[in-house]
Amino acid sequence: PRRVRVHHLREAKERGEKITMLTAYDAPTARIFDEAGTDVLLVGDSLGDNFYGYANTLPVTVDEMVHHTRAVTGAVQRALVVADLPFGSYEDSPAHAFASAVRLMKEAGAHAVKFEGGRRVADHVRLLTSSGIPVMGHLGFTPQSENVFGGKRVQGRGNDAAERLSEDALALQEAGAFAVVLEMVPAPLAARITEILAIPTIGIGAGAACDGQVLVWADMAGLSTWTPRFSKQFGNVREEMVRAVTAYNAEVRGQVFPDDAHSFLE
Ligand code: KIV
Ligand code: NA
Repeated sequence: PRRVRVHHLREAKERGEKITMLTAYDAPTARIFDEAGTDVLLVGDSLGDNFYGYANTLPVTVDEMVHHTRAVTGAVQRALVVADLPFGSYEDSPAHAFASAVRLMKEAGAHAVKFEGGRRVADHVRLLTSSGIPVMGHLGFTPQSENVFGGKRVQGRGNDAAERLSEDALALQEAGAFAVVLEMVPAPLAARITEILAIPTIGIGAGAACDGQVLVWADMAGLSTWTPRFSKQFGNVREEMVRAVTAYNAEVRGQVFPDDAHSFLE
């Protein structure tokens, strides 16, 4: 299959075709999501809360992102692989962002990076894109700033906040970002930003008008025990794993497995 490139996302927006994106953190799931035709795989720092059991994304390191991104890029044939820059690895300067992004590109084979923020990181976006690193922006509720926001709260409510968010989106586009994630933004505001931007918006808790959609796979496939209201459970992976493991335990204890069919008889 032909690889998804950043220009394909822009073309999809122009044609009115929705872009699909899911998180992936390891090779077997990345292979499944790629085979199922997902356009973009995000090695998100949601790795921290979803797979390392941290309280939030803040403890995730560049080393951890490199390990998981390498596993994902090695497994995909078609999907564009975007890797998150984790908290503390880019905010203070464009040069810091560049150094972290280069690690993800060189050591892990990422096709693009994503980081949080609007005008405050516009110079970072400009340096990276002009240096050959495609950047996806992330606005609205940005989990790395959870402690400033005072929890997981919808962003951009009210005229002033909506105006600031729109300005941030335009600044990212102007700096060269190829797409912007809008997280927990009122649907009418996300629709307006989608209309004023030439680059695609990827929504999560941002209504139906965005050019694409992203979800954390553990939430949408039913692995998590808790999922946010904006997510939807499309499967029940957790139930299926409980069933499989319970059956395995019972067969081992009942001396049903292993049987001759699963043994080397000589
Ligand atoms: O880390 C992540 O999974 C993300 C998405 C929710 C956009 O940043
Ligand atoms: Na993230």
